[in-house]
Amino acid sequence: VNILKKKSYYYIINKKRKCINMKRVLTGLQPSGELTLGSLIGSISQMVKYQEEYESFMFVPDMHAITVKQDPKLLKERIIKNVALYIACGLDPSKNTIYIQSENLYHANLSWVLECHTYIGEASRMTQFKDKSKKQENVTVGLFTYPILMASDILLYDADYVPVGIDQKQHVELARNIADRFNKMYGDTFKLPEPLIPEVGAKIMDLSDPTKKMSKSDATGKGVIYLLDDEKTIRKKIMSAVTDSDNKVIYDPINKPGISNLLTIYSSLKKIDAKKAEEHFKDYNYGNLKKEVADTVVETLLDIQNKYNEIINSDKLNEILDNGREITEKIAKEKTYEVFKKVGFGRY
Ligand code: TYM
Repeated sequence: VNILKKKSYYYIINKKRKCINMKRVLTGLQPSGELTLGSLIGSISQMVKYQEEYESFMFVPDMHAITVKQDPKLLKERIIKNVALYIACGLDPSKNTIYIQSENLYHANLSWVLECHTYIGEASRMTQFKDKSKKQENVTVGLFTYPILMASDILLYDADYVPVGIDQKQHVELARNIADRFNKMYGDTFKLPEPLIPEVGAKIMDLSDPTKKMSKSDATGKGVIYLLDDEKTIRKKIMSAVTDSDNKVIYDPINKPGISNLLTIYSSLKKIDAKKAEEHFKDYNYGNLKKEVADTVVETLLDIQNKYNEIINSDKLNEILDNGREITEKIAKEKTYEVFKKVGFGRY
């Protein structure tokens, strides 16, 4: 929070980091639902770690959110909420360029060119599209092409690394394949990005059904912990997490997905490995295990919520986002013009 009280120096610091040629890391979380404990562990926490060693870009992919139906008013509110949450979770605006995707028109422009270099066959292999399209009616073309917009988000900035949960790995690989194809056709243009997947917590599972991913767009939200849930709700959801009946605390994601998920949540938040967590809880019964996991989650989230409440009302958010827009527009424009020139468009 201190960082918000300091003078406005984001731009200078961001520029400095660029000058020393640090590797670049980039990621984003769709504002299609409220951010969850899965979002924190799989994505945001990674960025908090990497911001110390890389030049970091963190954005709100709002254009991705309308691949499924959204309430415009809620979407607008959530975009700002998520920026405040990024910072409350530990993203430092002086170490990250923070921006909103739709404020930079080049994302969609480059995406079109990339779409024309992506084969229907490879786009059709995206497992997330297959899963999501099965679950809803009136599937849009946007839901199908969204991994290509994601490729554009990444390739525009020559990101070296893209920290994501396991469910997004295939999309980063698609970005890499498109970049490689483009480079071979037109000469070196894009950096080939690499996904960074956390060793622990790459897929936090739903507490009420530990065989499926904890998802911000889950219809009931029963097994989903949202970052802004109050203490009572967090405890209730964890205490009613589905487990098994043998009452042995063992880390075994295949045979004991519920218990393993609780151990993963605990070990990610405590920054220890899952085996260490298993050792710590070996004499616990499930009730006591859940209680201690709940204590840990509550402690983490209440701290984030306190920071969030300060930030959401701060007038610095606009300044941070203006700065992010300014920095990213320059980079994205340059890359888009280079691409337009290479493919033979207009008078570029
Ligand atoms: P999204 O919004 O579905 O998820 C955001 C990030 O959080 C991770 N994540 C999880 N990790 C562990 N356990 C979970 N239960 C869990 N749920 C979500 C996701 O893997 C992801 O890293 N298309 C992207 C957003 C995006 C993007 C990008 C990401 C758009 N452009 C460019 C990286 C780079 C998406 O829908 O993620």
